[in-house]
Amino acid sequence: MNKQVNHIAKFIHLPKIEDERGNLTYIEEENQIPFRIQRVYWIYDVPGGESRGSHAFRATEELIIPLSGSFDVILHDGEKSQKYQLNRSYIGLYIPKMIYWSLDNFSTNSLALILASTNYSVNDYIRDFNVFLKLCEKS
Ligand code: TYD
Repeated sequence: MNKQVNHIAKFIHLPKIEDERGNLTYIEEENQIPFRIQRVYWIYDVPGGESRGSHAFRATEELIIPLSGSFDVILHDGEKSQKYQLNRSYIGLYIPKMIYWSLDNFSTNSLALILASTNYSVNDYIRDFNVFLKLCEKS
């Protein structure tokens, strides 16, 4: 029997213009991104063995794109955990709000570009995993 996998996050394939001179990928908010981009940040110079994230957002949606190198994204939706490897600069991972996530296993010189639907707000963060689980139970 085929077991349907219920994915927490969704891959978004961005346009890729292949060229002998080098490939090109672009983003148009209205055409590829399921939210209004309010903020862009990037994570780089990650020392070997380090991880980033370990939080959920109450309201923020994000798209994570591995512009260079590779890393893993570990997600939890309050019930189950899933791990995705990102290693193509034209494939991003869309993470809805209220998903606990962390990034690890960064390759040398990796660069994670993150598009976010909100401005930075410390109040949007849920860092305590047990608090996150409790909030998931209530909703
Ligand atoms: P944070 O999101 O906590 O990174 P991580 O969860 O990977 O450790 O951000 C680290 C610091 O950067 C924190 O002090 C807040 C600051 N920050 C901003 O000022 N603006 C931003 O858009 C982001 C993402 C972080």
